[in-house]
Amino acid sequence: MKKHLVILGAQWGDEGKGKIVDLLSAEFDAVVRYQGGSNAGHTVVVKGEKFVLHLLPTGILHPHTIGIVAQGMVVDLELLVKETEELEGRGLKVWDRIFISDRAHLVMPYHKVLDSLFERKGKIGTTLRGIGPSYMFKYGRKGLRVCDLEDKDRAYQIMKDNIEFVQSLCEKVYCENHFLDLEEIFEKTVENYKKIRDRVIDTTHWLLKFDGKVLFEGAQGTMLDVDMGTYPYVTSSNASALGLSSGTGLPPKYFSEASFWAVSKAYTTRVGEGPFPTELKDELGERLREKGGEYGATTGRPRRCGWLDLPALKHAVDVNGLDGIIITKLDVLDSFEEIKVCVAYEYEGKSFDYFPASLSLLEKLKPVYKSFKGWLRNTKGAKSLSQLPKEALNYLEFIQSYLGVPIVMLSTGPQREEFFWLEEPALKS
Ligand code: GDP
Ligand code: IMO
Ligand code: MG
Repeated sequence: MKKHLVILGAQWGDEGKGKIVDLLSAEFDAVVRYQGGSNAGHTVVVKGEKFVLHLLPTGILHPHTIGIVAQGMVVDLELLVKETEELEGRGLKVWDRIFISDRAHLVMPYHKVLDSLFERKGKIGTTLRGIGPSYMFKYGRKGLRVCDLEDKDRAYQIMKDNIEFVQSLCEKVYCENHFLDLEEIFEKTVENYKKIRDRVIDTTHWLLKFDGKVLFEGAQGTMLDVDMGTYPYVTSSNASALGLSSGTGLPPKYFSEASFWAVSKAYTTRVGEGPFPTELKDELGERLREKGGEYGATTGRPRRCGWLDLPALKHAVDVNGLDGIIITKLDVLDSFEEIKVCVAYEYEGKSFDYFPASLSLLEKLKPVYKSFKGWLRNTKGAKSLSQLPKEALNYLEFIQSYLGVPIVMLSTGPQREEFFWLEEPALKS
């Protein structure tokens, strides 16, 4: 493994990144979130105690790590303060170990109003955390950045202009009045800013000078990436490796010193709308949801469930230039008599072995499955390949050989210690 490590989601989010980043953070000095915002929900279970992190890097649960909220994130200050204080309330010293980028954009209450309004037509099924509108304002050059809050007049003017714009959009386009109290929003924002002010720095230059080992924690997943995912049913940031450089402000060559791994469940889930070729809308999908506890960590929504989609996963391998894959939740498949894996798609007699861009085509594709005999044995908490049934090994070997990259780690339960490393030659491919 190289000095630094990037952990990404290989699917549509919720792959178990939080659990993996947490356990790996023991070996790292700093952990960086660099895209997305409080739409993320990263779950960690330590000694039976559950933590769900939305804005702070998951690695912060280890007392030695420094947590960075980098410039590519969109930050809801109120939630950031709340999350930090909640962790402090649970006995963790967090305030003096986090740094927040002065260049990060803020998620403001008016972004959340727009998020709800945009969902009325052409629903994406967003988390309603104001993420899309905050990035819209950023790229439309109307955004409010953390550093702007140092100059109160400037910050006030940006909020005033933004509120006027959002209110007139509500009135003229949606024929609704949404009163947004400028004074109250301004005061609240300033109040929250005071609490984080001494943690705000230029995180890019801090990282460039930092000599320690850094773990980069992706949020969402490659298939939700605004460029490489199932557009428009995506999030509004580059959730694949493509977002690393712009999201951190670090030059692309910095990442030549990083290994790139992505996390995938042993099956597939997705929350919200959008194409999902291997979705199971029947009793099998229901079983996966119940066995896997597939309910959103941020919104509590039931996740859509289906079989593993290898062409989609291969897309993630290619786009991210992956060095390795981490498979989670193998244990969820323990009671399935038959397990299927999508190896290609089909439409009008034509076979597709890649994940196409066109939504119209994606909606018509039918998965071509390879079937595996289930192992019908408990794999939860397994600590080595030798503890896995041969049917489970067959399943993993097929995945590895299809993807052409090694499975480097297997997660066998939600607890921090429920995992093991895989030696490359131990799993034939
Ligand atoms: P993230 O967004 O990628 O961090 O994933 P989430 O936290 O949203 O969802 C993953 C869920 O799976 C969480 O409830 C984890 O505690 C749980 N989990 C992670 N790894 C495993 C595993 O190997 N087996 C089981 N059964 N649960 C796991
Ligand atoms: P983590 O980091 C799963 C999905 C939403 C919706 C789409 C756009 O926990 O894996 P947004 O609020 O971002 O504008 O919603 O993206 N989505 C996620 N799905 N896991 C996530 O994060 C997600 N973050 C956003 O459900 O379909
Ligand atoms: Mg999640």
